[in-house]
Amino acid sequence: MVHKGSGNGLFHNPSSLALTSCMDFLDSRRKSNSAGKVIAVAFFIAVCIVMLKQVYSPSYTSPDMFSQHELGVTHVLVTGGAGYIGSHAALRLLKDSYRVTIVDNLSRGNLGAVKVLQELFPEPGRLQFIYADLGDAKAVNKIFAENAFDAVMHFAAVAYVGESTIEPLRYYHNITSNTLVVLEAMAAHNVKTLIYSSTCATYGEPIKMPIREETPQLPINPYGKAKKMAEDIIIDFSNTTDMAVMILRYFNVIGSDPEGRLGEAPRPELREHGRISGACFDAARGIIPGLKVKGTDYKTADGTCVRDYIDVTDLVDAHVKALAHAKPRKVGIYNVGTGKGRSVKEFVDACKKATGVDIKVEYLDRRPGDYAEVFSDPSKIKQELSWTAQYTDLQKSLQVAWKWQKSHLNGYGHG
Ligand SMILES: NC(=O)c1ccc[n+]([C@@H]2O[C@H](COP(=O)([O-])OP(=O)(O)OC[C@H]3O[C@@H](n4cnc5c(N)ncnc54)[C@H](O)[C@@H]3O)[C@@H](O)[C@H]2O)c1
Repeated sequence: MVHKGSGNGLFHNPSSLALTSCMDFLDSRRKSNSAGKVIAVAFFIAVCIVMLKQVYSPSYTSPDMFSQHELGVTHVLVTGGAGYIGSHAALRLLKDSYRVTIVDNLSRGNLGAVKVLQELFPEPGRLQFIYADLGDAKAVNKIFAENAFDAVMHFAAVAYVGESTIEPLRYYHNITSNTLVVLEAMAAHNVKTLIYSSTCATYGEPIKMPIREETPQLPINPYGKAKKMAEDIIIDFSNTTDMAVMILRYFNVIGSDPEGRLGEAPRPELREHGRISGACFDAARGIIPGLKVKGTDYKTADGTCVRDYIDVTDLVDAHVKALAHAKPRKVGIYNVGTGKGRSVKEFVDACKKATGVDIKVEYLDRRPGDYAEVFSDPSKIKQELSWTAQYTDLQKSLQVAWKWQKSHLNGYGHG
């Protein structure tokens, strides 16, 4: 039993000391039968057990620290924490002294990102990773039963508009029904705070810009619809409980950790559904021959589509602020964007400057289903959570992300 833990070099010395003192005493017990000695033996065995417990408990990734609430420590479950945004959020939470449990099925995320976080925060009780699928209600329930969460940040999702039109059921299952699983587990285990990752895709194609939180939600693709349904479920449920809920509707997320520890590394097979920053970097690296800009005759300043790009560092800051402001029996819904639209042409120019590569650009006809202009009105989040975007220089955000891309040519796979 003692050597079980000694596989780890950390345990060697203290455990053998504790054991030796136990053995010495057991030998001496055989030489005498007096009642006093029996009591003493019992006493020493108890002491040995306590010593062994003390030696071993803190060193075994300390499951106890995650399974018990601790005064002054907020334990956050980060679903999808191996993914792009979730890993950046976990880093920020850990830096701010939160206790973090990441649950991810690694279908799209990277264990490499979790390893980076584990190396940065190796102390017991800071970070644990649990490999699980949120579609497995039994597994999720067990995770909630064994861990004392104070809050949940629910990032885990499949998140590509194009893919959602090809595989709608996957999206409804992964986004809508998995959110139901998480909510049920929260209810069963009395976890009262939820920060939910939603999207501007829930608004569809509003005629009036900028998009405010009251703008009608009329999503036009399964991704947006699945997220809208998940929002509705969360709101309906929260009306019947004293849950604190914050729903954050992100616009287009770009950038990466300014200190270069984390980045965006989607699976290569997802490239075809990918986002504009990924495509720009792929073009700069020569993985694809160039960029195809679809549509130059939109009613925008330069004829190309306009979007609102939010840096991931600002986005995770919004999550921390949302967590701090979450109140029981309240649902806060916020747009998280810069409030400023940038055209695809502007984006491509910024990407060329950031990478130093004269990316080849091909201008094509419009793609059906794309809308001309989408940008947020972020005044509500500014007023209520004192949050505003700080990293609003496109070129700088892209420069940071490019630096990580260049030093991680195989994503988290190899340096
Ligand atoms: N990236 C954006 O521009 C953007 C914009 C708006 C909203 N969002 C939302 O932000 C969240 C995070 O997006 P991202 O860009 O980091 O995506 P991502 O693919 O990088 O990360 C998602 C993570 O969730 C995990 N996951 C997926 N299904 C799971 C399941 N069933 N069980 C456990 N883990 C699972 C994946 O393995 C991955 O690590 C999503 O909810 C997405 O809808 C993203």
